[in-house]
Amino acid sequence: MSTPLAPLVDAFNRRITYLRLSVTDRCDLRCSYCMPEKMEFLPRKDVLSLEELHKLALGFIDRGIRKIRLTGGEPLVRRDIIELVRALGRKLGDGLEELTLTTNGTQLEHFADDLAAAGIRRINVSLDTMDAALFQQLSRRDRLSNVLRGIAAAREAGLKVKLNTVALKGLNEAEIPFLIEWAHTHGHELTLIEVMPLGVVDEDRTDHFLPLTAVRESLEQRWTLTPSEVRSGGPARYVEVAETGGRVGFITPLTNNFCDGCNRIRVTATGQLYACLGGAEKVDLRAALRSDDPAARLAEGLDLAMRIKPERHHFKIERGAAPAQPRHMSLTGG
Ligand code: GTP
Ligand code: 5AD
Ligand code: SF4
Repeated sequence: MSTPLAPLVDAFNRRITYLRLSVTDRCDLRCSYCMPEKMEFLPRKDVLSLEELHKLALGFIDRGIRKIRLTGGEPLVRRDIIELVRALGRKLGDGLEELTLTTNGTQLEHFADDLAAAGIRRINVSLDTMDAALFQQLSRRDRLSNVLRGIAAAREAGLKVKLNTVALKGLNEAEIPFLIEWAHTHGHELTLIEVMPLGVVDEDRTDHFLPLTAVRESLEQRWTLTPSEVRSGGPARYVEVAETGGRVGFITPLTNNFCDGCNRIRVTATGQLYACLGGAEKVDLRAALRSDDPAARLAEGLDLAMRIKPERHHFKIERGAAPAQPRHMSLTGG
């Protein structure tokens, strides 16, 4: 029997078991807090092939990764993505405990059945508003009805759907209680997210930054919130809402740092491993994959990643300040 490969443990003794694998940096929306209207995407020739993504994922599973989330950009705009989902789905119960995906939902109605058949059980769908005009303003595209059809299709396919809502002052702020009620009525959890200073956009994110401490206080005026011990494997902290019978998550990179519990790493569509969403530390895994001895180079790359993973990010939202990192969330995969 071969010796099991060493698990991934970083310099702060955090066990890394969760890989966020971006399969494309492209997206069919242009959310204004995420990217500029004239976003430049990676040249296609630099992007890993499906075979390379698969090989990479298997290498991570061999090192103790138990949860893989496919991300983007928008993962479902990548051609043949379902082939990768099927291939990784075959590892479920054989090294992999959970395969999941974060999507903007625009294409979901075409993929929901195939995702469920491949072994995916739950997905996260971004939904910042249910107002068609605001959706168009925020995402610069008129796709709300596609997203709502996608969410319904996912539900019908038996997928559990968690909604992700970036909280935006003066934009969807007043709609947040309604979004929560709608989510809970339809059997979804909803997680609120603070906007993060990643990549230059056409606006100053300070204008719409909404601290979730304030949102929570305002929700407490309306409902009875009880902190929950439930963890989904991500940074969200949850509360139960007595009146709706559902759960709300809070992802608070700005107001309540959660990095001491970090269990994840990210790989971009070109095979760059970023040790932290908010850091510059990276390892080129594409070079490892394309070398003469991919297994050995990959192992070295992952060991290096564990040594350079920083303790925490240092996000600040300050008027006029440069972003914490020049990379957009859509490149690093959220
Ligand atoms: P669950 O498995 O459902 O807990 O998912 P998740 O919260 O890990 O994943 P999702 O893709 O839904 O991410 C929601 C948001 O949280 C995205 O905007 C991510 O960028 C953000 N997020 C996820 N992990 C981290 C992290 O380590 N640091 C920071 N600052 N944000 C993160
Ligand atoms: N800050 C916070 N969330 C962001 N997202 C994209 N860019 C940012 C940002 N700068 C969100 C999307 C989606 C999730 C994957 O990341 O809205 O819900
Ligand atoms: Fe696309 Fe997601 Fe960025 Fe919106 S937030 S532009 S859906 S990658």
